[in-house]
Amino acid sequence: MNSLVVVGSGVMGRGIAYVGAVGGFTVTLVDVNEAALKNAEAELNTIFEKALLRGKLSNGQQQKAKANLSYSTDLQKAASSADVIIEAVPEKAEIKRQVFETMEQFAPVHCLFATNTSTMSPTEIASYAKRPALTIAMHFFNPVHKMPLVEIIRGLETSDETAEAIKKMAEQMGKETVVINEFPGFVTSRINALVGNEAFYMLQEGLGTPEEIDKAIKLGLNYPMGPFEMADLVGLDARLNNLKYLHEKLGEKYRPAPLLEQYVKAGRLGRKSGKGVYDYIQKEELVGK
Ligand SMILES: NC(=O)c1ccc[n+]([C@@H]2O[C@H](COP(=O)([O-])OP(=O)(O)OC[C@H]3O[C@@H](n4cnc5c(N)ncnc54)[C@H](O)[C@@H]3O)[C@@H](O)[C@H]2O)c1
Repeated sequence: MNSLVVVGSGVMGRGIAYVGAVGGFTVTLVDVNEAALKNAEAELNTIFEKALLRGKLSNGQQQKAKANLSYSTDLQKAASSADVIIEAVPEKAEIKRQVFETMEQFAPVHCLFATNTSTMSPTEIASYAKRPALTIAMHFFNPVHKMPLVEIIRGLETSDETAEAIKKMAEQMGKETVVINEFPGFVTSRINALVGNEAFYMLQEGLGTPEEIDKAIKLGLNYPMGPFEMADLVGLDARLNNLKYLHEKLGEKYRPAPLLEQYVKAGRLGRKSGKGVYDYIQKEELVGK
């Protein structure tokens, strides 16, 4: 297992490509959007520079990892020589289905398929292709190069060999793993979505300001980030998609807070759009003054 293809060069895909390249895999990062790929390349170059400056990578390691990494808009070509493909496209069934169909058509028969879905069923995603024994969920966390865990979720028909190979691969990328069986939301997203959604209800009810609620959760419950800081990092649109899926699968307790829906409608998507619960543009301007 040497050749890794990562599909989707957004927040998660670029991070997965980075830890893959540093872990010694030959990585092709694929996206339909050329601008997203350029953006990913620029951000990864910054992460590489910082890793060198902070002594996390030696000069030789940095050069080698960079040489392991290439960028492409051609999934068919990249898939044709892949040993493992990790899908990190948006959390929408129709997009994942289309990507998995292409993967199935062009990847070699031995190639393993992993999805970085936050909530969706790996069994259902495996049904978009024809190799359920070779398909699994590999749930990375944001920011990928800093977060230590990969939550590995087996689908109904995932083989022991696939689970073992993917665990080894995650370890080679420098990660700790847990291997669990599928249920909507897994362990981490199920808890995280619930806490994050409840925080939006609190804000809507006028319990306190975002700063106060975040501070209470961080200092009172010993969370490293407040729920709004986390939501802005994850992306409010991504969070809303997760909640809609969990609401459908697990019921009323996951009904998205109306305020969260309103923020998404207003284009307040979090850090990536410059404004979410907090206003990042204004903060940066203030820092600049
Ligand atoms: N954002 C998070 O914190 C987070 C954490 C864990 C898991 N996830 C999951 O990871 C996946 C990706 O999320 P993200 O936040 O990186 O999304 P994102 O919107 O930042 O990036 C998705 C990328 O996929 C690309 N894309 C869309 N359709 C494509 C196609 N057909 N082929 C190739 N590329 C395509 C887009 O151009 C975009 O660059 C989702 O399933 C999400 O639920 C997200």
